[in-house]
Amino acid sequence: MTTDYALKVTDLVVNYGIVPAVKSISFSVARGKITTIIGSNGSGKSTTMKALTGLLPSQSAGIELFGKNIRHTETDVLVKQGLVLVPEGRRLFKSMTVTENLQMGAFQRSDKVAIARDFEQTLEYFPALREKLNVRAASLSGGQQQMVAVARALMAGPKLLLLDEPTIGLAPAIVDTIAEIIQSIAKAGVEILLVEQNAEIALEISHYAYILERGEVAMHGLATELANSAEIQRAYLGI
Ligand SMILES: Nc1ncnc2c1ncn2[C@@H]1O[C@H](COP(=O)(O)OP(=O)(O)OP(=O)(O)O)[C@@H](O)[C@H]1O
Ligand SMILES: [Mg+2]
Repeated sequence: MTTDYALKVTDLVVNYGIVPAVKSISFSVARGKITTIIGSNGSGKSTTMKALTGLLPSQSAGIELFGKNIRHTETDVLVKQGLVLVPEGRRLFKSMTVTENLQMGAFQRSDKVAIARDFEQTLEYFPALREKLNVRAASLSGGQQQMVAVARALMAGPKLLLLDEPTIGLAPAIVDTIAEIIQSIAKAGVEILLVEQNAEIALEISHYAYILERGEVAMHGLATELANSAEIQRAYLGI
């Protein structure tokens, strides 16, 4: 089935017990266009990512990945279908080396030749990691750890990559590097849904943006338009 959307989410609801965290949000990721969900602390960004990837139970009127209904699909099956999450906080295997972390990303695959090829291709995005391949993840800088987290996700062979706050806690120069890498990955044909507190960088590299506030979509529109909106500038861009 062909569709213009990599992802289409309709009326997603996620509760923690009786506490609502995501209150019936709808959004989509158009193919070939980086899409972002921007929100401050506790607005429901990670909850949304976990629900999409089957890590949290949710209700919805529909979640479609490339036109196919994926409600109630388990996480490992979703990974095989190309939906891969780079989780908040990286969640690396800290005592393992960079190479081992990347290999873990491909653990569901058995095509050794393709895995070796993807390992090489992945490192082309991250030249800084080449000299760190045998270094344990724990001893890398924050920026390098984030690179490993993205690289590990690429090793799963994603069609749609979900990135949960990849720039948090990083120095501005590294934020720019990560942003450039995300753009290169998108150019290579991987669909991107970027979740960020850093509205400035998210709006800069995205085509379309959703603003999440207290579990609801408060605004959405073209990233260029939101970046020029007085309300967004005041609330999220510190202008
Ligand atoms: N395991 C949990 N149990 C109960 N409530 C939770 C749990 N995890 C998150 N919440 C609550 O759900 C809401 C959304 O949290 P979530 O982690 O999705 O926010 P976020 O947008 O990712 O925030 P941040 O930018 O800090 O990562 C918050 O009110 C949070 O306190
Ligand atoms: Mg979060």
